[in-house]
Amino acid sequence: MKITFSAMRLPKRGALALLVAADGKLLSSGQALDKATGGALTRAMKANDFKGKKDELLDLLAPSGLDNSRLVLVGIGDPKQLQGRDLQGIGGVIVGHLDSVGEVEAAVAVDSLGGDKKAAAASAGHLGYGARLQSYRFDRYKTKKKPDRKKPLEKLSILAEDAAAARRAFAPFDKVAAGVHLTRDLVSEPANVIYPKTLVQRARQLQKLGVKVRALGVAEMKKLGMGALLGVGQGSAHEPQLLILEWNGASASRAKAERPIAFVGKGVTFDTGGISIKPAAGMEDMKWDMGGAGVVIGLFQALAGRKAKVNAVGVCGLVENMPSGTAQRPGDIVISMSGQSVEVLNTDAEGRLVLADALWYVQEKYRPKAIVDLATLTGAIIVALGHEHAGLFSNDDELAERLTAAGKKVGEPLWRMPLGEAYDKIIDSDAADVKNVGNRSAGSITAAQFLQRFIKDDTPWAHLDIAGVTWSTKAKPTVPKGGTGFGVRLLNRLVKDHYEA
Ligand code: BES
Ligand code: MN
Ligand code: ZN
Repeated sequence: MKITFSAMRLPKRGALALLVAADGKLLSSGQALDKATGGALTRAMKANDFKGKKDELLDLLAPSGLDNSRLVLVGIGDPKQLQGRDLQGIGGVIVGHLDSVGEVEAAVAVDSLGGDKKAAAASAGHLGYGARLQSYRFDRYKTKKKPDRKKPLEKLSILAEDAAAARRAFAPFDKVAAGVHLTRDLVSEPANVIYPKTLVQRARQLQKLGVKVRALGVAEMKKLGMGALLGVGQGSAHEPQLLILEWNGASASRAKAERPIAFVGKGVTFDTGGISIKPAAGMEDMKWDMGGAGVVIGLFQALAGRKAKVNAVGVCGLVENMPSGTAQRPGDIVISMSGQSVEVLNTDAEGRLVLADALWYVQEKYRPKAIVDLATLTGAIIVALGHEHAGLFSNDDELAERLTAAGKKVGEPLWRMPLGEAYDKIIDSDAADVKNVGNRSAGSITAAQFLQRFIKDDTPWAHLDIAGVTWSTKAKPTVPKGGTGFGVRLLNRLVKDHYEA
């Protein structure tokens, strides 16, 4: 979908969307149109009991005298209460609706909502952002154009009093949205298309934006002693990879001295469970078990796209977890890069093994000032938090609070879970330093405790268990069904609020 910004002149063709405040109060372009049509808008709102509540929508055939294909009134509630995120939602609602009715071209008038000029431009930018986030579809494998399938909206023109300022406000949002779309693409791709090497190939596209992209293969990882990660991958025909992304955007004066912030992603491109194999029902979902890596890659697209003034490093452990004659067995003991030995009691608890070596690697090579890892790590986090919050685990209150606040602001909420010695004990092994599963209780916490054993004490670290939020079966205004991209906006915000200089 093409999004453009232009001056506040209502176009004569295509669909037209107008914002309406609480109690059916039309904004200025709506008032003008109402007048020009002899009060048709006011009558239509009355007849349909349309009150202008936030996200309420009234679809009208354009009144006579207008050449537009249709007129859509969209409620915004009380303009004084309206946050940027609400406007994103409204943008999403508008595009979702126009898509569903088959409009190809539309304009939406974003009248000033009473604030200053800057606020008006920001509003238009937010609305465009929401429109962009809604307009994602993963349909590259649909080869048949069904005659009854509605055409998607192709052009959205956003009308604003100061179009240039609105366009400027939208630009960084558009870059972040591109990152979100990339993540959604990556998690939506099936595992015969996306496996470790092809995921690296996709990530190499970021070189165009100035991201440094490297990958280590098995030989190099063996040299580094990454026995935990390699054990997971040894049953697959696809060679594991360690993907390393670097974005050095900190302002030149500080660039050299500036320790990076690190993002580490679980990239299990398919998780069968290995020899501890999963049941058949629903196993197809495990194509998105690389969701953590998907977020890291999308995040770097966003950071590089908007030229964030930050030094960031991303490390993703990419493996396929398969059962085969070469697969690792329950009871195997592997030596991780940290030197700690791990007893693998369940080959389906593979994400933590992959992360153990990725986390150690990034600490050894980069001495990051903070680490955030993301992983579709446990089914237990879905039992605890459903699909509404991702689980947050951290050894550092400040980092945890920053993440929680960023999540609230962008609508990707986190819920902090506990860590502690009593939980840590559960994963002591009789035969090795640590075992990769606990008992039946507190499955997400013992998984996090396992990760913490690979974090040096003085490194602020947070782990996001995104198993419940990476894929959605319920469409929302800015998140269509399927891959959500949850985490890209959150971490982009974290960087923007705390790590840019
Ligand atoms: N990738 C799964 C976790 C998962 C489950 C993600 C459902 C998304 C949706 C992970 O590798 C796994 O299999 N975890 C096991 C751990 C158990 C064996 C201790 C689980 O959650 O059952
Ligand atoms: Mn698993
Ligand atoms: Zn997994």
